[in-house]
Amino acid sequence: MNNKIISDTEAWVMAQLKHESSGHDWEHIRRVTRQAQEIAEIEGGNMLIVTLASLLHDLIDDKVVADENEGIQQVTNWLKKMDIDESELQHILTIIKTISYKGGGQKPVESLEAQIVQDADRLDALGAIGVARTFMYAGNKGHQMYNPEFAHRETMTVDEYRKIPSSAVGHFYEKLLKLKDLMNTKEAKKRAEKRHHFLEEFLQQFFHEWGERP
Ligand code: ADP
Ligand code: NI
Repeated sequence: MNNKIISDTEAWVMAQLKHESSGHDWEHIRRVTRQAQEIAEIEGGNMLIVTLASLLHDLIDDKVVADENEGIQQVTNWLKKMDIDESELQHILTIIKTISYKGGGQKPVESLEAQIVQDADRLDALGAIGVARTFMYAGNKGHQMYNPEFAHRETMTVDEYRKIPSSAVGHFYEKLLKLKDLMNTKEAKKRAEKRHHFLEEFLQQFFHEWGERP
């Protein structure tokens, strides 16, 4: 693998996400990249593609950049500057355009590399880190920690998913608890078990302290 391309890309991404506080900060990228590399070592896949797609995966997100197309253009320019082959460049762009959850209901991703990066991103939405990110996101958006009056939204459009205020606890039902069964690779399914279980225990304790059983 070309280490100079990786370290230059790390520095470029880090500089852009330094002030990000919606849960898509550099530390999220660092964890996803490491986890994706570990999964790729077990499941296979092109390590350079897995690493670059992980590093770049949130730079086109509508929570991070104002305009997704502008994000895509910037990532394209960067990869051209790094002298990445045209076919590899297209593969990386396809991965980062297709892995996002966006309320569910997206088509399954195709390549092994895309499956691995999507799994690693989703693993970071589970477990203790997943809980912490969700409450940070809700705080950042001014959402409530929990509101028993909001029905849990089972299906929704991308727009509803982003705009209608949910609560941090509501988000567990809208997304987080569904992720375990959506993992693509065997290794990620294994890694998701413990993290999913932790979410369930967290909710049990939360409702116990709240004084309500869902
Ligand atoms: P993806 O990167 O797959 O599109 P999102 O960007 O929607 O997923 O979500 C990334 C993380 O941000 C989630 O795992 C969660 O922790 C947090 N998050 C996103 N939407 C919400 C929400 N409505 N309420 C609370 N947390 C959220
Ligand atoms: Ni992400």
